[in-house]
Amino acid sequence: MKRVIAIYPGTFDPPTNGHLDLIQRGSNIFDELVVAILRNPEKEPALFSLAERRAMLESLTKPFDNVRVDIFGGLLVDYAMRTGARALLRGIRAISDYEYELQMALMNRKLDPQLETVFMMPAETYSYVSSRLVKEIVQLGGSVHGLIPDLVEKKLTEKVNGRKHSLQSSVADLQETPTRDRQHQPRGRRK
Ligand code: PNS
Repeated sequence: MKRVIAIYPGTFDPPTNGHLDLIQRGSNIFDELVVAILRNPEKEPALFSLAERRAMLESLTKPFDNVRVDIFGGLLVDYAMRTGARALLRGIRAISDYEYELQMALMNRKLDPQLETVFMMPAETYSYVSSRLVKEIVQLGGSVHGLIPDLVEKKLTEKVNGRKHSLQSSVADLQETPTRDRQHQPRGRRK
């Protein structure tokens, strides 16, 4: 019988327990699951670089023998064709996801009628978890413990604290530099 390869595409900035839940469910029913991170210069700048997201996902998916992580650009249907995938896996958390997902699934079907989109629901515990909210909460000092993998929580806290620290240093440096000097400093040397 033919092996069924599926792609689980997304931004994963950062990966959440909801993503991981879906990866686990997908790995149970597909022969091979490719977690594919979108390389998208047009989207709002990501908090984590592609390399960081790939490293996190690779570490999180290590227990699954039939899961691998990749990065893709361009049309998803073209990437699916190159990969030999017959299905796309997407998660639907709530009815609010449905419209966007339906539109994307139908558009992808129009582009490649052979490629099926398969929807799965993550565990209800994660039905309100999104990468965007997780980032916002951590940036504002809240806790997201239990909603993202421990590894991601550590990296996210480090990243947010690192950013805050470098912002505070820049402000402190600016405050220490007299306005007159700042105006005459070459741009590249300002910190
Ligand atoms: O995690 P996200 O941001 O909801 O994932 C969106 C993603 C990556 C699945 C979607 O933006 C995508 O497939 N982009 C690739 C470009 C493409 O094929 N666009 C047409 C989709 S109908």
